[in-house]
Amino acid sequence: MKKISIAIDGYSSCGKSTLAKQLAKQLGYVYVDTGAMYRAVTLFAMQNNFINDGEVNTEHLVESLPEISIHFELNEENHPVTYLNQKKVEAEIRTMEVSNNVSKVGTIKEVRQKLVFLQQQMGAKGGVVMDGRDIGTVVMPEAELKIFMTADNNVRAKRRWLELKEKGQEETIESVLENLKHRDNIDSTRAESPLTQANDALVLDNTNLSRDEQLKLVLKWVKERTSA
Ligand code: DC
Repeated sequence: MKKISIAIDGYSSCGKSTLAKQLAKQLGYVYVDTGAMYRAVTLFAMQNNFINDGEVNTEHLVESLPEISIHFELNEENHPVTYLNQKKVEAEIRTMEVSNNVSKVGTIKEVRQKLVFLQQQMGAKGGVVMDGRDIGTVVMPEAELKIFMTADNNVRAKRRWLELKEKGQEETIESVLENLKHRDNIDSTRAESPLTQANDALVLDNTNLSRDEQLKLVLKWVKERTSA
């Protein structure tokens, strides 16, 4: 069967990575979690004290960009694990502290240029599922299937809250909801490749869909594009 490129964009905590992982597994494709890459740069900035009280020292971070290397390795379950400068950072990049700072880092043009370049290299051979905010519009505008995901705010906050809880991070649903809204706002209004729906993207609102129903629907879309 023909291998295609699949771009998944949408708001924070819509289940993009869950869907992307399921699709990659089912289709034998490579999964690229671009949000993890922005999170890794944010962690680097925090570790080097380039972020103070939510303010990013853009000049210092941009100067240090050549020192940042990010790659993924597959674990025993075949899930990609994020590495920052050869060190496993999968857990560190998922904390609320990183979540609170990451959208600001994502507004920096030079950070985006570096990560988009890396992402395009990772997707160059096709047979890839990539999720993020600018995949269908900037990173892989030629992708055969583009999906724009959305879901009700309260449903998203509850899902994210549960995810954090399972990892032992106790937050209130209210603070998680605030973080989501705040990130959505920065992600959608930034000057540099903001989150927008590509003209040719299919909208997937999963407020009332189970993971299985959602996967079934998207596999149908994939089939329509690979069996032609
Ligand atoms: O998907 P995520 O929540 O892990 O993404 C973390 C942040 O990174 C998100 O707030 C916006 C930013 N991001 C981005 O600007 N562009 C991408 N392609 C992916 C993520």
